[in-house]
Amino acid sequence: MESIPEKTISDIRNVSDIVNVISEVVLLRKAGKNFQGLCPFHSEKTPSFSVSPDKQVFYCFGCGAGGNVFTFLMKHEGLSFAEAVRKLGRRHGIAVEDRQLSPEERHRMQEREGIFDVNREAAAFFRKNLTDGQEGRSALAYLLNRGLTRETIDRFSLGYAPPAWDSLSGYFSGRQISSDFLEKAGLVIPREKGGGHYDRFRNRIVFPILDASSHIVGFGGRVMDDALPKYLNSPETAVFNKRRSLYGLDAARARCRETGTVYVVEGYFDVLALSQAGIRNAVATLGTALSTEHVRILKGYAREIVLVYDSDQAGMRAAVKSVETFRKENMNARILVLPEGDDPDSFLLRFGPGAFMEKARTARTMMDFLMEETVREHGLSIEGKLRIIQDLKAPLGAISDPMARSLYVRNLAAIIDVDERSVAGAVAAASSSGMADAAPGRGPVPEAAGIAGRSVMIERKIITMMLQFKDFLVEIDRRGTLDDFEDERLKSIGMHLLAHYRASGEHDIAGLIEKLNDAEREMTVNLSLGGDVWDRDGCLRLLAQFDSGRKRHTDDLLQRIDAASRGNDQALLLELLKEKQNRARKRQAIN
Ligand code: GTP
Ligand code: MN
Repeated sequence: MESIPEKTISDIRNVSDIVNVISEVVLLRKAGKNFQGLCPFHSEKTPSFSVSPDKQVFYCFGCGAGGNVFTFLMKHEGLSFAEAVRKLGRRHGIAVEDRQLSPEERHRMQEREGIFDVNREAAAFFRKNLTDGQEGRSALAYLLNRGLTRETIDRFSLGYAPPAWDSLSGYFSGRQISSDFLEKAGLVIPREKGGGHYDRFRNRIVFPILDASSHIVGFGGRVMDDALPKYLNSPETAVFNKRRSLYGLDAARARCRETGTVYVVEGYFDVLALSQAGIRNAVATLGTALSTEHVRILKGYAREIVLVYDSDQAGMRAAVKSVETFRKENMNARILVLPEGDDPDSFLLRFGPGAFMEKARTARTMMDFLMEETVREHGLSIEGKLRIIQDLKAPLGAISDPMARSLYVRNLAAIIDVDERSVAGAVAAASSSGMADAAPGRGPVPEAAGIAGRSVMIERKIITMMLQFKDFLVEIDRRGTLDDFEDERLKSIGMHLLAHYRASGEHDIAGLIEKLNDAEREMTVNLSLGGDVWDRDGCLRLLAQFDSGRKRHTDDLLQRIDAASRGNDQALLLELLKEKQNRARKRQAIN
């Protein structure tokens, strides 16, 4: 492997805008010079995640994650440094050669990109079968008959897989793509006997499933009659993970951002029907429960989730389960329960978009929903009431806003006609025990100043100043200020900053942090985004203050030399004298 040339890395970094890249997946708001949002790396209620367009870095004051645009992609998408560079490079038309990745990276990247390519071709094949072919006529008729328009069919690139066992395989065999690779993409299945493969999707309507970068990660397929299974999805592959995929996200995200709301529904057809009705901010899980990962992804696009569920038992149970996920992720959520037997698709066909929006407007909060469901489940006998309190004390105790919690407690007490104080007591007991997991991942980064003394505090200030003002770098270099730093990490950051400046004449923090280790990088972005802001006079005063501290050091040194010579400790004396000489040399440089 050759390493990627520095020039290529900095070119790619310079054409990329960190605010652009991050805002694709995190809701950001302008706050002064910077942008703020909820951190995608830990769960939080109030935004402590900052992105600086000037410095091209991000930092989370909650969990300490921070870095430049590459660091962000590495952390967010689980990429290596080289992969992150290559991914951004592709976006801006700057090539990073394959041979510049390690063998494992190259293999992983080629597999991922290969699957995306194959999926794109497969989608085009399915699509052509639906729209141009004789074979797809009944499939198209099926879709139109279910009320979909050509426009919706186009917008979601629906397709049709012909009935033969080898139509897709045949299509690819003429294009030098091996069946083994198609198997990796989940498009074909190995035969039990005699070798070879057959098509996974046969005689089905096909729904391409896209990720947030608009790559096709997999497919869903539906039969057109009562055959089983009704739906079939691609298996998990190197690019397809059901816990992280949401059908329709690519088409819905812009509207989610505009409205602040995302509807989460259960089926492919529900997404299509809602979109066609003008409700374009809807996504579906792929036959799985709503996962923590799903909620985290959706947080990047909307402030509120409206879960839309069938009123059947399974739907309700799934909704009750997701209450805990929403709480842990601090996501606002409401639930819209449709009449027995209806899903959004059938509801829209029967009552139209107006009725749906009206229902959505009055959707209950998850807590109201949970209380009502629990009451319905256990009934209002004495036994029932005890069970209700038993079931609800933990979720109520977990509500972190005391006002909201006491309002819900009062509400529940009224519903089940139990003394409010008893309910509050049970809830309080639950909230003090076993709720430790409610605390966020790592807590705030400790202030170094609190641990070390005053001098380290000044050292922090000096580094903050260096990160802010290019002009002072020369001055600090000349004074040898860093040589006397006590804090090794701060010293190392300062040295890197000077070296970077000497080498490039540049003062770009985003470029600098590639040279730092994890701890140094986090501290650097922390200081450059969160540190005090200095004016020039303040900087000069600070340097003077640091130098007077050095003088005190010297006085202390003189006393120690005195003591050593009186105690006749020759070795120590020699060492101390050397130290004195060193300092004198440095001071000479300053003056
Ligand atoms: P239509 O009958 O076409 O309107 O679909 P639906 O979405 O109303 O069907 P249903 O409520 O039965 O299923 C909801 C979702 O669960 C589907 O969109 C699929 O994602 C998933 N699902 C349903 N049946 C199956 C199945 O047999 N296999 C798999 N893997 N998923 C299924
Ligand atoms: Mn349906």
